[in-house]
Amino acid sequence: MFTAVTSVPSVVMRVYPDDCDAFGHVNQAAFLRMFERARWEVLAVGPGMEAFRRSKTWPAVRKSTVEYTAEAFPGDVLQYDTTLTHLGRTSFSLHQTARREADGVIVAEADSVFVCVGETGRPSAVPVEIRNFFGTRPSVRAGAVQHLLVRDVATAVDVQGDGPAILFVHGFPLDRTMWRHLVAPLTGWQRIAPDLRGMGLSDVPQSGRYSMAEYADDLAALLAKREVEETVICGLSMGGYIALEFVRRYRSMVRALILTNTRAEADTPEGKAGRDEMAQLVEREGAGALADVLLPKLLSPSSLSAMPQVVEHVRTMITGSPVAGLIGALTAMKDRPDSTPSLQQIDVPTLVVTGREDLLIPVEHSRTMADAIPGAQCTVIPEAGHLTPMEQPIATSRVIGEFLEALG
Ligand code: MLT
Repeated sequence: MFTAVTSVPSVVMRVYPDDCDAFGHVNQAAFLRMFERARWEVLAVGPGMEAFRRSKTWPAVRKSTVEYTAEAFPGDVLQYDTTLTHLGRTSFSLHQTARREADGVIVAEADSVFVCVGETGRPSAVPVEIRNFFGTRPSVRAGAVQHLLVRDVATAVDVQGDGPAILFVHGFPLDRTMWRHLVAPLTGWQRIAPDLRGMGLSDVPQSGRYSMAEYADDLAALLAKREVEETVICGLSMGGYIALEFVRRYRSMVRALILTNTRAEADTPEGKAGRDEMAQLVEREGAGALADVLLPKLLSPSSLSAMPQVVEHVRTMITGSPVAGLIGALTAMKDRPDSTPSLQQIDVPTLVVTGREDLLIPVEHSRTMADAIPGAQCTVIPEAGHLTPMEQPIATSRVIGEFLEALG
């Protein structure tokens, strides 16, 4: 169910023959154009596009998906309804439906994410007139992403199910959606998967501060907001660095720890230099260049060739994150402390999981880390690379499910 708490006026537009392909159906490009035209028409009945000009900012589309549910033909009159689903400091998301006036059938739905950019191309605040036009309370779709204000950062979070909490912390340069398939079978648990500050659909913080401590403090504040006092924390790679920091800072909130495809050591001098190079690449060429470099390292060769949907998902996550957030994460990883000395102090049940073909963090690192944590168990999953929970979600979910069950 879609709860439209911030709908703005509908607009009505007719389909013309030049919107259609040779078979007389509205074609995809035309739909994108019509949804875009509808957005500007909606704005025209509100503050007008001048609102963006006046504040010297522009709403750039970061992501757009369209679902086609019925055919539309020339002469059809379509009613476009627009709803705000997320409002951050520099970004906002809209859900649009196109409904045939004659019979009320929805012919297409679109979800678009916008980031406001200033004259220098940097993210800038959503203009006040636009905020006021849409109102400030975004709607949420049941089971869809929610947006919570956490330490002044609009934070996107997926929450699924009821029961004891388990917090999933994504890696770099990914987002909360990496856990989607893994978490589905873990019923009986309240599964909480946020986007870290500056990544996915979470806002870029105004302060520009990024460190493992900042990320851990964000997570503790997020849990407090959801009135969660104790959680299992599961982090992949960078999410694991954060989970280790979380255990140090918020031990009393941690029921158990799951570390996947991660390591305890800090970056080596060469590793730090590599972070700087990567940050320069992202700054110069954008997140698409990062995707080209990282994809062959993140996934195992067999996943790369046999799992095109996973490849596409990873690419979408990488290219969907704001450049400032990616650079912030690189700085945070470069400056992260060495967690090796604190491993022997971990006194919660711990599971270490990795993929046999992880090219970024060899299996030996995971085994050594597990050996250093009192009582930790280590599971190596075959036919998986650095993104084991995405490449082998069923096997990984089973291992995690068994670990959770043993917690009693
Ligand atoms: C990650 O997956 O989070 C990154 O590969 C971690 C890293 O680069 O150290």
